[in-house]
Amino acid sequence: MGTVVITGSASGIGLATRRSLEQGGHRVVGVDLRDAEVVADLAEAHARADALAAVLDACDGTLDGLVTCAGVGPPFDPARMLTINWFGTEVFLTGLRPALAAADGLAKVVAVSSNATVISPNTPDELVDACLAMDESRAHALLADIADDAAMPIAYAASKTAVARYVRRHAPTDDWAGAGIRLNAIAPGAVVTPLLQGGLDDDRIGQAIRSMPIATEFGTPEIIAAWITMMLGPAADTMCGSVVFVDGGSDAMIRADDWPRTFRF
Ligand code: NAI
Repeated sequence: MGTVVITGSASGIGLATRRSLEQGGHRVVGVDLRDAEVVADLAEAHARADALAAVLDACDGTLDGLVTCAGVGPPFDPARMLTINWFGTEVFLTGLRPALAAADGLAKVVAVSSNATVISPNTPDELVDACLAMDESRAHALLADIADDAAMPIAYAASKTAVARYVRRHAPTDDWAGAGIRLNAIAPGAVVTPLLQGGLDDDRIGQAIRSMPIATEFGTPEIIAAWITMMLGPAADTMCGSVVFVDGGSDAMIRADDWPRTFRF
């Protein structure tokens, strides 16, 4: 039994994960705009800092797990979406690392990325790099230069690519694996939640979602929560820096041979 922080705990995947963990006897400290132990708007820098302090206070400086789930999807203001999805994630990954390292035993982190990282085209590397450099104003300036109709999907994919790259870059390092923290990401495809419904309700975005190749039904929050729960448990003791795709086959259908890639040495 342990204490796990979940951002975005009030709805969808985060709420299903909260229920799964609470059923397993864990204590959840939720962070969300409403219905959470820590109520905060992660779009605002000062609120992110206050929320981090409140979470550290609530867990007394020691944490067994973290799930960064808070996020928004199109249709949404691109710059604000990038800020919530990436900067609202990084603050907890980086800020809670010492509390996770202080856990009694291995701590586990699951960052929620997306299959948009691989199926959404034309994400500029420099935008992802600005995110990873924590340069919010440059990231917003780069987005402002992108044509209106492309900015939303690009902001979403860039935010989720930054999440996945952070995980892959940091997970095997001394500060993470070496400090007893297992850091991994999950990359869902379409999951039936209010976020997806908001996209489906928009004519253009709904058409794009419905035309995406998929070999199964859309996912449910409970299915993704089951994966996250497993990635917070002993099954993830030797899992490090993985990005797990649970996307109904969309990635495999669109880019079958792109991964795993061979390489020359
Ligand atoms: P959801 O809309 O059901 O839940 C998102 C939660 O994040 C909500 O409780 C919301 O209040 C919270 N949130 C949004 N903006 C916030 C802010 N400014 N400050 C604090 N909390 C905020 O959506 P869903 O689908 O459960 O999304 C969870 C995560 O999964 C997101 O990061 C999303 O990008 C990701 N995801 C979702 C997919 C889907 O098809 N539903 C597919 C791939 C990834």
